Amino acid sequence: MTEQSHAADPPILEVRDLQKFFPVGTMFARRNLRALHHVSFTLRRGKVLALVGESGSGKSTAARCVARLIEPSAGQILFKGKDMLAEERRGASLQYRGDVQMIFQDPFGSLNPVKSIAHHLARPLRIHKKSSGTKETAERVDQLLESVGLAPARQFSDKYPYELSGGQRQRVSFARALAVEPEVVLADEPISMLDVSIRMGILNLMERLKDEHGIAYLYITHDLASARYFADETIVMYAGQIVEGAASEELIQHPAHPYTQRLLDAVPDPKAEHGFKQGAGGWQPPILVDPPPGCPFADRCPHAMPVCREIMPGRTTLNAVHWVRCHLHGSGESSPGLSEPNLPLSA
Ligand SMILES: Nc1ncnc2c1ncn2[C@@H]1O[C@H](COP(=O)(O)OP(=O)(O)OP(=O)(O)O)[C@@H](O)[C@H]1O
Ligand SMILES: [Mg+2]
Repeated sequence: MTEQSHAADPPILEVRDLQKFFPVGTMFARRNLRALHHVSFTLRRGKVLALVGESGSGKSTAARCVARLIEPSAGQILFKGKDMLAEERRGASLQYRGDVQMIFQDPFGSLNPVKSIAHHLARPLRIHKKSSGTKETAERVDQLLESVGLAPARQFSDKYPYELSGGQRQRVSFARALAVEPEVVLADEPISMLDVSIRMGILNLMERLKDEHGIAYLYITHDLASARYFADETIVMYAGQIVEGAASEELIQHPAHPYTQRLLDAVPDPKAEHGFKQGAGGWQPPILVDPPPGCPFADRCPHAMPVCREIMPGRTTLNAVHWVRCHLHGSGESSPGLSEPNLPLSA
């Protein structure tokens, strides 16, 4: 990855200092849950950025803010350099909602059970004026189904979601996203509910769509192995903050943050509350309501030092494709919270 390749490859979407607080508690004791704290990342055409972290770390909240399904509390979302939150306040948002599509974990929940597959694809085509007339729309629906591997299309278009398998339903979700010719796809654990045997097929489909359409992906996952396979870069989120970012292979080979090391060591354990085996003494989830200062991982970190409970470090650059926020590697060259690209050379 060189500076030149990035210069020719400007960001499509830049998230800067995104923050999200959810009000929690009773009406007499309102408190704020800090789901996202100064989250920044960059998506580029034809590239995949994986966002990994355990349950509750804020991955979906980040994607939902970017997809404009929920309102961020602060921060900027720049699409091709334009501040979309400001654009929306001026009433120009339909185009962005087509350009940035989200794929959900549960393909059944995201499809309407009483509408045919053809309806799911024809609707966005009409709303975003990508086809006109019944014949053209039907032809486009067929093309979309075939482009996601549902061929011959006529075998699928008149069916209802319950008549398809999980993998086929997820393919319909991709066809629906493609209908509006998106530039960015936010895929929120798109394979985690699918049978292991068909996961690879969906990842290969995503890869092909990326190459054919130059789509920029945010790929959210718990599974570092699939991030390594599919994503160019990976960022790691803990308690609403990005704590490490690197080229995917580098991250797997040389994880620097103790949390990333723990994620890599973790054996999925269906009995554990958060999907990973707990340490000998167990652990508490991070405090998101009125969080204490310092690094949120300090309570679980085997290397925690007094400074870790006082100050959250900024980013320390380890090499051209790797940075970390951890006192073990220094206190950081930049203040936490400043907007920064995924990788040191991504500017
Ligand atoms: N609407 C909401 N109201 C209050 N709290 C919320 C809301 N949505 C999310 N949260 C909280 O925000 C935090 C981040 O949730 P989020 O769903 O983004 O996590 P996640 O990383 O996607 O987890 P998972 O891997 O389980 O999908 C959690 O503590 C969650 O309980
Ligand atoms: Mg989620």
